[in-house]
Amino acid sequence: MPEQEQTSRRDFLSRLAMWGGLILAYGSLGVQSALFILPERLRPRTRFLFIGQISEYDIGTVRTIRNLAGTPILVKCSSDGFTAYSSICPHLGCRVAWEAENNRFFCPCHRGVFDEKGVATSGPPADAGQSLAEVPLKVDEEAGVLYLEVREPKRRRA
Ligand code: FES
Repeated sequence: MPEQEQTSRRDFLSRLAMWGGLILAYGSLGVQSALFILPERLRPRTRFLFIGQISEYDIGTVRTIRNLAGTPILVKCSSDGFTAYSSICPHLGCRVAWEAENNRFFCPCHRGVFDEKGVATSGPPADAGQSLAEVPLKVDEEAGVLYLEVREPKRRRA
């Protein structure tokens, strides 16, 4: 009996691996097919916006960079690397600013406080468990430059 039980467990695991592989393969094929078939205008368009040389950023500082829509993005340089945050407060959309003297992000509208990693620590955003949204960055160590991934503004029809 134990041998038969072991065989059925082995069968189960091999079938699980086979079906998992098939689902992954067909799933990625479906996603790639949809991207190929979708009209280009429906796909989200992103591009990398050059935001400066790595050497221009000092550790512990935050720079404000505007994305293509003109929205300020807060780019933080720390010993761990670079992180970019949206300056839009997740509570009600006010503008968040970096306070170097307090090592925190602060929203003046309802006194929302976020730590240096963008996690809310007090005020309404902390009560709601909200954090600052991260914006994708690309760090090209070889070239020594930084890029911000931004969505292109929607084109207007002529
Ligand atoms: Fe920022 Fe309310 S809008 S705390």
